[in-house]
Amino acid sequence: MKQSYKKPALIISFSLSSLLLVLLTILLVASLIVYTEVSFNDSASFSLWRWNSTNNDTLKEALLITNTSTSPSSLQEPFLITNEATPPASLPLVASTATKIIKRCNKLEKIEAGLAIARAAIKQASRNKTTLEDPDYVPKGAIYQNAYAFHRSYLEMERLFKIYVYEEGDQPMFHNGPCKSIYSSEGRFIHQMEIEKGRFRTENPDNAHVYFLPFSVVMMVQYLYKPDSHSTQSIGRTIIDYVDIIGSKHPYWNRSLGADHFMLSCHDWGPSVSSYVPKLFDKSIRVLCNANTSEGFNPAKDASFPEIHLKTGDITGLIGGPSASRRPVLAFFAGRLHGHIRYLLLEQWKNIKDQDMQVYETLPEGVSYNEMLKKSRFCLCPSGYEVASPRVVEAIYAECVPVLISDHYIPPFSDVLNWKSFSVQIPVKDIPNIKKILSNISQSQYGSFGWPLLGETLAFLKPHTSNSLGSFLQHHCSRYGKVFKSHLFFSPAIISCDQELNYFILLNEDKLFQCSYPSSIHGVLGKSSMLVVVGETHKRLRSLALSLVTSTKSSPDYLNDIESIAIQILASWKGKNTVTFCEEARKFTFNVIVKQVLGLTPEDPQTTKILEDFLAFMKGLISFPLYIPGTPYARAVQARTRISTTVKALVEERRRRSIVENKKGDFLEILLSVNNLSEDEKVSFVLDALLGGYETTSLLMAIAVQCLGQSPIALEQLKKEHHNIRILKKKDEYLNWEDYKKMEFTQNVINEALRCGNIVKFVHRKAIKDVRFKEYLIPSGWKVLPVFSAVHLDQSLHDNALQFHPWRWETQGQTAKKFTPFGGGPRFCPGSELAKVETAFFLYHLVLNFRWKAEEPDQSMAYPYVEFPRGLPLKLDPIISEPSF
Ligand code: HEM
Repeated sequence: MKQSYKKPALIISFSLSSLLLVLLTILLVASLIVYTEVSFNDSASFSLWRWNSTNNDTLKEALLITNTSTSPSSLQEPFLITNEATPPASLPLVASTATKIIKRCNKLEKIEAGLAIARAAIKQASRNKTTLEDPDYVPKGAIYQNAYAFHRSYLEMERLFKIYVYEEGDQPMFHNGPCKSIYSSEGRFIHQMEIEKGRFRTENPDNAHVYFLPFSVVMMVQYLYKPDSHSTQSIGRTIIDYVDIIGSKHPYWNRSLGADHFMLSCHDWGPSVSSYVPKLFDKSIRVLCNANTSEGFNPAKDASFPEIHLKTGDITGLIGGPSASRRPVLAFFAGRLHGHIRYLLLEQWKNIKDQDMQVYETLPEGVSYNEMLKKSRFCLCPSGYEVASPRVVEAIYAECVPVLISDHYIPPFSDVLNWKSFSVQIPVKDIPNIKKILSNISQSQYGSFGWPLLGETLAFLKPHTSNSLGSFLQHHCSRYGKVFKSHLFFSPAIISCDQELNYFILLNEDKLFQCSYPSSIHGVLGKSSMLVVVGETHKRLRSLALSLVTSTKSSPDYLNDIESIAIQILASWKGKNTVTFCEEARKFTFNVIVKQVLGLTPEDPQTTKILEDFLAFMKGLISFPLYIPGTPYARAVQARTRISTTVKALVEERRRRSIVENKKGDFLEILLSVNNLSEDEKVSFVLDALLGGYETTSLLMAIAVQCLGQSPIALEQLKKEHHNIRILKKKDEYLNWEDYKKMEFTQNVINEALRCGNIVKFVHRKAIKDVRFKEYLIPSGWKVLPVFSAVHLDQSLHDNALQFHPWRWETQGQTAKKFTPFGGGPRFCPGSELAKVETAFFLYHLVLNFRWKAEEPDQSMAYPYVEFPRGLPLKLDPIISEPSF
């Protein structure tokens, strides 16, 4: 048996529409009816139009047959359309041919020719996989047997389909039905047909494709059945009389022997009472909730219809529920002991004390049935006395996966809907194994996986301003809460926008979760990169990185190097009216990191070479992982090889020099002296530092500059702070750690820029065990993405979260949970302080030497890597009075 668990999103699209669409969906069923080949020959069998039919008969054939001189209305002559139409290559051409033929036909022939064209169009859509633009609705997804055929069929239905409703018969048993009971779908349909006379209903029976017999079995049971008599004869006789009247007053029943007529019933007795009229049972289309093949339901001509229990008449409060990870119960059922299947189910599971399996004959006091549906991942829908159960729709409403347990049941709209994609079907004999079967449904079967591999990745990566959540997160959070599942980066994924869970994920690195970047990143960074390695290797590399950071920080040149590079960049602005700030900031951070790590100055030829290769490397890092020559990815892999060659040469040169020259004690020298690193690891180390220290820090500077430009008060306060430091310094005296400590407001500005700018929107992790956190269940092997931006922009954690307001950091504690721009736990960014120092020192000289304003509007965008599309062009105005250099 194939089972699958469909993500709520898909189910929602079905459930939300389901009630309102009862009529439309029925009409859709009726559209199947339209494409039923109508036989006027008593002995000819029906063949329902099948979208996947391999019958290759031509439209021409169909039209020719339709165009025979044999009049169907003579009825005595058999009139048989035996073949389905094959869609023509060019539909308009066929349509015009058809029009010519139709002109010579009588009304019925016209109808048949119209149907043949519709059939051809549906078949063509199915074969060519074409979808017509439709402003209202274009179906897609695995829930459809064939979305293309369905869409075309639906459009054809809207264009063409007409139902004639017989007016004979009086209320309450005709033209009327219950709308607030377990049989409400019967009443709803009848009422819709009575009210909605215009759209699909025709007053002219000659124009109809199908004829509706508007009797209600439920009402007949209410008014005609003698309680406890166990006899349905009175109902049967009424139906016989009714069909006789229809046959004698109108030509249509006898013309087709009932084949183009349909009845609808949700009552359990629908099938049996229809047997009182053999033609109704054998030939007519019976739309039944009790779609039981062992009771004569014939899927080739009958249609299965959902049973919907509308207690109050509407569905308020019934729709929706949390995502599967927040549903603690595996399977739920509550219902009376009706029929042998329920007996087996209750006997097996009712008295078992198992939190996973909540099976009740009567729900315990105070437990809400609807809440239980929303708490459960699977909702058991066993047959009662008959096969249909309103639980199927109730489960779908609550976004719980229905588990159909029945014999001989054809689920609703099976011609259109692929039930295997959103339900589980368990044979009655497997009732004892329900728990095992449901527990074994692989976690990867959860979720609306959209495209088979990419899932929702493209929607997730859709660009948005970096100080916003983006439409994907906004929609999903409001729909499913702060933690939800999806399929991203080729894997089922849990996305967390919850500060507690994010923090928990970061802290439990290597215990419950592990860093897991996409393979594209592995290919470019190399297998020894710190972002790629895990476990012991990561620990070893990381402790080395931290000791390197500590020792370079304590070097006397550390701050001076940073400051002198800042001064160099700003000095190059002299005489310029405009600059593209992002480019300038990148120059600055690149020169700083190359100096810090490799000891190179901007003038060294290797610096330019590394920069060129590094840019290609960066582009590939975010590209798609296809190693095809010429793609950014391939160029990045090649660039990495070149950088690695350059770095290896530098290492060699330094090794030779350090033998004869004085030791510098810088990053490279320490790296050289380490014995427990392979050559590849040393190169990766340098690359990690270049990568980490370049783009991220330059972006932080750009975001701070842009926000300050829009906040004159903050800029003024920042300037004052730096001015106060400046006046205490001698000419050409460098900034020191004491000065840095005095830059308190600068720190607030930097924090706020980090919070608003969200340079690292999320990080990649995977669960290495099944993890339960609060009410969430994170399956082992799933990708887990803690989204930092969602926490940074959460209004409940940061007042006026969307506003740049550096003063919030004067009072707001920087709790690690709600502010994680540098990650957290064992992978907390080792370069965080360098990034802040660089930004602070650059801002110091910038605000003391220049005024600026945006030359054209620009905004940091999350692609999701953050970028200013125009590079943040600034108009400059030098401040002559108080230059700092
Ligand atoms: C504004 C600037 C920066 C931001 C926003 C930033 C952000 C981050 C974040 C969020 C992580 C954690 C990644 C994860 O958990 O998967 C990280 C890790 C890292 N960062 Fe930074 N970073 C910045 C600057 C730097 C600098 C300047 C360097 C180098 C000098 C650097 C080197 C690294 C390295 C090597 C790691 C990997 C740490 C590990 O896996 O243990 N970063 N950074």
